[in-house]
Amino acid sequence: MPILPLGIPTDLDKYFYNREKELITLNSFLNTLNYDVANQILVTGHRGVGKSFLLKKLLTELPDNILTAYIDISKIFGIQKGKITEELIMNSLLEAMNEPLREEMDDLTKAYDIVKDLIRKIRQKKFDFKEAGAAMGIAIPDIKDNYEKLSKFVMEFPQRVVELSDGEINGFVIVIDEFQLIGELESPEAFFWMFRSYTQEQDNVSYIFTGSTSSTSDIVGKINGIKGAFGGRMTQYAVDPFTSEETEGYLKEKVSELKFTESGLNRFYKCTGGYPAYINSFCNTMSGDVEYDDKMVIETFYEKIEQIAIMWTSIWATLSDKEKDIITTVIENGPLSWSDLLAKVDFSNKTLAKYVNIIRNKGILSHSDKKYMIDDHMLSAWLKYKKEQDGFYPP
Ligand SMILES: Nc1ncnc2c1ncn2[C@@H]1O[C@H](COP(=O)(O)OP(=O)(O)O)[C@@H](O)[C@H]1O
Ligand SMILES: [Mg+2]
Repeated sequence: MPILPLGIPTDLDKYFYNREKELITLNSFLNTLNYDVANQILVTGHRGVGKSFLLKKLLTELPDNILTAYIDISKIFGIQKGKITEELIMNSLLEAMNEPLREEMDDLTKAYDIVKDLIRKIRQKKFDFKEAGAAMGIAIPDIKDNYEKLSKFVMEFPQRVVELSDGEINGFVIVIDEFQLIGELESPEAFFWMFRSYTQEQDNVSYIFTGSTSSTSDIVGKINGIKGAFGGRMTQYAVDPFTSEETEGYLKEKVSELKFTESGLNRFYKCTGGYPAYINSFCNTMSGDVEYDDKMVIETFYEKIEQIAIMWTSIWATLSDKEKDIITTVIENGPLSWSDLLAKVDFSNKTLAKYVNIIRNKGILSHSDKKYMIDDHMLSAWLKYKKEQDGFYPP
C-alpha cells in the first residue's frame, strides 16, 4: 500500500508535484518587490485543492533577498478552542515575521532577540514597546489601547526590516492561511481595513491571504469586493484541482506501483475530482497487487470512504450544531432556495442568515441560480454513507 501524506509533508520536494504555471504566476506577482512595488494577493480554492502546499513551496523557492513568514489562522483558532482575537493573530504574525531575522545581519539579529522578548511579554499581557520600538525604529504612541500599539508595531515591522537591512533585503512576503476565519472576529472589516491602510504605504511588503473559500463568498467581498477594504486592488488567484492528465502524471510519478485500466483511471479521476487531498487518501487505501478497473475503483471507493473522506472528519467536529443542521438539510433535500431552506430548519431568518454566511465562508455551502448546495461531493458522499450505515449523521 502506498503512503502518501494527508497533511503538508516536512519534505516538501519529495511529494510536491508540478504546479509549474501556478508558481511562475505567483512568483511574477512577488518579483515586483525588487522594484519597490508590492502586490497584495488573494488565493482562493476549495479545501484540499493544494493551496497551502503550493504556497509553502512558493515561499521556499524565493531568493534570499526576500524574507518570508507564514501563519495559519486555523492553528491559532485550534489552540484557543474557538475564540479568535485580533490580538492573537497579531502576536502570531509578529512571531512568524521575527523568525527569519534570526539568521540575518548583526543588527537584525540583535533586534530578533529583543522582539522575541517582547512577544514573551505580550503573552503575559505586558505591552511594553520601549526597547523593541527603539531597536526597530518604530515609534509607538503613548496610548492606553494595547491592541492599537501592538498592531502598529506588527504592521510596520516587515517594511522596517527591509529598510534596516541596507539593501540586502528587498521584500517581505507574508502568507495568512485559512484567512476566512477572520470572518469570525467581531469586525473583520476593521481588521482588513487596517491591513489596507498600512500596505498602501509600504513598497516592499506583500501579503498573500489564502483560504478554503469560494471567490464569491462574503469574506472575499469584505476584503476585496467593491466595498471591501482593498476594493478590488488585490490580485486574485484561484487554484484548481489537477486535470485528468495531471492526475495520471501524479500517479505515475508518486505511486507507480498502482495499476489502472483506462476506465479505472477515468473513474478514479471522477471520484477524486483531481483534488490532491482525495487522490492521496484514496491511493493510501489501494493495493499494488491488482489492476483497478472501473468497477473495482467504485467498490473500493464505497468500502473505504471513511478513510478517503478523512479530511472532513476533523472539520465536521469543529462545526456548530446549526452549521451541521443546515448542511444535512441541504444534502437531504437537494439544492434549496432560501425560503425552502428556512422552512426546513427550525431557526429564525436572522439566525439562518448568520450561519449560512459562516459555512459559505468556509467553502462548504455555495449559492448559484438562487439555490444553496453543498460544494464538496466527497462531503456529501461521506455524510450520506454515514447516515445509511449508522442511521444518523455524525455527531
Ligand atoms: N502539488 C501537489 N503535489 C503533491 N501533493 C499535493 C499537492 N498539492 C496538495 N497536495 C496534497 O494534497 C493535500 C491537500 O493539500 P493542501 O495544500 O493542504 O490543500 P488546501 O490548503 O488547499 O486545503 C495534502 O496532503 C498535500 O500533501
Ligand atoms: Mg490549506
